[in-house]
Amino acid sequence: MTPPPTPSPTPPPHNSHSTLPRLLSVLLAGTLTAVSLAQSNTPDELHRVALSEGELARTLRASPVPAVAADPTNRHADDPAAAHFGRWLFFDTRLSSSGGISCSTCHDPAFGFSDEKEVAIGEGVGTFNSPHIWGAGHSRWLFWDGRSETLWNQALGPIENTVEMGSARTAIVQVIARDDDLRAAYDRVFGPFPFSLEEAGALPARATPITGDPQSMSLMLWDMIEASVRESINEVFVNIGKAIAAFERTINPPVAPFDIYVQGIRERDQAKIDALSFSAQRGLKLFMGEARCHFCHSGPLFTDGEFHNTRVPPLDPDTSPHEGRHGALPKLAADGFGAASRWSDDPDGPRAAITEGLLATQELWGQFKTPSLRQVATTAPYMHQGQFPTLRRVVEHYSTFEGALPPGHHAIPDPLLEPLGLSAAQIDDLIAFLRSLEGEVGEELTGPPERPYSAKSLLDQ
Ligand code: HEC
Ligand code: HEC
Repeated sequence: MTPPPTPSPTPPPHNSHSTLPRLLSVLLAGTLTAVSLAQSNTPDELHRVALSEGELARTLRASPVPAVAADPTNRHADDPAAAHFGRWLFFDTRLSSSGGISCSTCHDPAFGFSDEKEVAIGEGVGTFNSPHIWGAGHSRWLFWDGRSETLWNQALGPIENTVEMGSARTAIVQVIARDDDLRAAYDRVFGPFPFSLEEAGALPARATPITGDPQSMSLMLWDMIEASVRESINEVFVNIGKAIAAFERTINPPVAPFDIYVQGIRERDQAKIDALSFSAQRGLKLFMGEARCHFCHSGPLFTDGEFHNTRVPPLDPDTSPHEGRHGALPKLAADGFGAASRWSDDPDGPRAAITEGLLATQELWGQFKTPSLRQVATTAPYMHQGQFPTLRRVVEHYSTFEGALPPGHHAIPDPLLEPLGLSAAQIDDLIAFLRSLEGEVGEELTGPPERPYSAKSLLDQ
């Protein structure tokens, strides 16, 4: 467990035109109605659920969602032509072995860039729930156990994973070589595509070094390819990951009612504060205060980006709990495409050193990455195996820990995860607050572009 951050007290927002701004403390007893509150409305007396200094400071820190920070490991990270190509690839089912699965099969914009399933189903049945990827560009670690440390490296995994897209990097080279539009898009972003149609056609359809099974045909075929050709195949493969990552960086959560409310607090604007119902405001107060959610779901993405054991039992009670973060450290960058590898555009930078000093200690057992709660109302089912179908079930878990795994001999009891004993009304309030983190999704994120390259990038030639 990372130690909880000590919030530095932030002064309450104030309006330079008013002498002593006073936010009316509305202690909402269940009987007090919004109507009776509205009667005493004056410019200086805003009607909202009163937050303590700490709750207010945390609330202000949680909005707005910032722009995604630079990623020097991917020199195309913020290239609009790369993002355009990546958006195309994200929805292109030809990147799978059957021709029927794309990234968007499991990260479907219609389901908040997740799917409706408990565990992912692609070319096979997976072990984990498809996480939503809102704000993935902000993540320090990717995957439930954080076994990847760059967005472009993460994107390469599912393409060759047998239960996800089941393809192989040689097949990806062939798909691009055979399609004039894909080649044009590739050329524009990365320079000349290194294979002619004939050269690509001569490659084995399925060759990759990653299978881990020494008997595997695809590994044998990979080893038979000349070293310099393997190098070019890897280059194409990495570039595909970098284009997809450039697109994923644009999947930044939209402005939600919660953000409008925070603006309202800053600007002392009652109409904006009203973007949150009183129930949602009471839920916010719990979230940022007594219910302790903010210790892990902190900041504008509502995640600390780190790993915790919330004692959620496996989906299938006959299976043993997954080891989570404990198993991830040896896997980081084991595929040779890590932040410190020569495929990174910043192999000596801070990302490359991110794993230094990390030890697979026993308390990492059963820890999973804290998911971002942005858009969470649209991403059910929840938790690493979709164990909980609804937000209510999630909040009830934190309230009672009924049916939870015992703290176990590995885990250190976590004082943040004591049963909260919430009332039914408090559960409703927390859910109302979680729902207020959903904003309206822009059209450009709901499907592929018309072509893999944009008319603009053609003109730039
Ligand atoms: C068959 C369903 C499936 C497909 C297809 C798929 N994914 Fe995923 N994705 C998952 C699952 C399941 C996980 C979590 C796996 C884990 O943690 O071990 C995941 C994790 C991720 C994450 C990490 C999110 C986070 O917060 O840590 C990103 C980003 C992602 N996928 C992007 C992609 C991209 C890009 C593609 C296409 C190249 C893709 N996925 C294809 C199911 C899928
Ligand atoms: C000790 C850290 C911690 C605390 C405290 C905490 N959470 Fe979580 N939360 C997590 C982790 C880790 C997961 C993922 C667990 C898993 O998949 O097994 C999670 C998952 C969730 C999810 C599901 C998200 C998804 O996409 O699957 C929701 C909703 C949620 N938490 C809400 C809350 C609320 C509300 C509170 C306060 C009542 C809270 N959390 C307190 C760490 C925490």
